[in-house]
Amino acid sequence: MKCTFLGHAAVLIEALEYKIIIDPFLSHNPVYKKNEQDISGVTHVLITHAHGDHIGDALEIAKQNDALIICNAEIATILKSLDSDLRIHAMHIGGRTPVDFGTVKMTPALHGSGYVENDMIYDGGTPCGFLLKVADKTIYHAGDTGLTYDMKLLENSLIDLAFLPIGGNYTMDVDDAVIAVDFIKPEKVVPIHYNTFDQIKADPNDFKNKVDHAEVVILEPGKNIEL
Ligand code: NI
Ligand code: MN
Repeated sequence: MKCTFLGHAAVLIEALEYKIIIDPFLSHNPVYKKNEQDISGVTHVLITHAHGDHIGDALEIAKQNDALIICNAEIATILKSLDSDLRIHAMHIGGRTPVDFGTVKMTPALHGSGYVENDMIYDGGTPCGFLLKVADKTIYHAGDTGLTYDMKLLENSLIDLAFLPIGGNYTMDVDDAVIAVDFIKPEKVVPIHYNTFDQIKADPNDFKNKVDHAEVVILEPGKNIEL
């Protein structure tokens, strides 16, 4: 299995015959390495919340590939209103569902999820993270979230790889993400949601130095980790 960091919070997971993209903020993502990535043939598009830097190009990618979108019920309603042909699996916080690549569970995230269109804001439901079983691996993408004690509930999930925000201001900063690692107890951690914009500057090496019981893998945008 190959997990590629596409920059910001965008992640591409390739396993078996599946290509799963999470929070595909690409065309307006200043750190996305457009010409180095092959995102053709995406089979699943997962959206943690409706903010522009996460929903990003989800609609276009799903349309081009006839991919299945997995998101909360409110975002599902918004996307359906934009294009009734989209294939969407709506779910909600705490729910787990079998899918063709394994299972998806929606985990809580402490954040917002408003959807903005023409200077109007629409209710994008509650934000989430995703706990995925893909092949024989367990992967957690926290989405945008502050530190929450709910993360402690993940410690028995035997997470092989966690993607955690460290950029601060809108989400956990380095020090809170270090505590999150202690709660979650993943094998490996990739920091995300930092250094894309001025407001979320963080030093991933500072994070790496402060984490004790997990392997921190710092990925430049476009680089991947094999599991
Ligand atoms: Ni956000
Ligand atoms: Mn964000």
